[in-house]
Amino acid sequence: MPLRNHIFVLIAALLLAGAAPGAVGEQLSHALKPALGTKMSDVKASIVSPDGSGLPRGNGSVFAGEQLYKIKCASCHGIDGKQAGNLLVGGLNSLASGQPVKTVGSFWPYATTLYDYIARAMPYNQEKSLSVDEVYAITAYVLKLNGILGHSDTLDEISLPRVEMPNRYGFVELVP
Ligand code: HEC
Repeated sequence: MPLRNHIFVLIAALLLAGAAPGAVGEQLSHALKPALGTKMSDVKASIVSPDGSGLPRGNGSVFAGEQLYKIKCASCHGIDGKQAGNLLVGGLNSLASGQPVKTVGSFWPYATTLYDYIARAMPYNQEKSLSVDEVYAITAYVLKLNGILGHSDTLDEISLPRVEMPNRYGFVELVP
């Protein structure tokens, strides 16, 4: 782009910044942080990275998650997450063994990815029907089932990326 255009863009940016200080940033963070109770289907960019950037603002407790899990997840994954063929729990330290059991607890290196997966892919056949807070709550409960969170824990966009998964550093490539 010719120098003249560069200068034009610079001036335009300065004018914008001067006219409405903070407004652009505010709009941006607003776009990234939907209000509580927002349906996941309304969150256009729900690509959550391991460090948590892209997580929507919200929160949910293990306690709330337990109620939701029973209604929305237990039919396929079992009340304790241990339904054969659809395991969410167990398999710790089995990956390097002859019979690796891949579950949320044993395999997934990041809690943020679990959030993202539930938000976008579950409940199976009713994808994206959960609100942001419901996804936080259910994620918390699945982590509780895996012994990673306690009874009275809650998760939000700040605490979720800080959850250390058991397999965070134990990741092994599985050769099929
Ligand atoms: C109708 C049955 C059904 C329901 C209800 C359901 N799931 Fe699933 N879930 C599946 C199936 C099938 C898979 C495997 C999908 C695949 O591999 O593409 C799966 C996979 C998963 C996984 C990935 C497991 C892994 O380690 O690969 C997670 C996590 C999960 N479900 C969580 C949930 C949660 C949380 C809910 C409730 C909000 C839920 N599911 C409701 C059927 C269901």
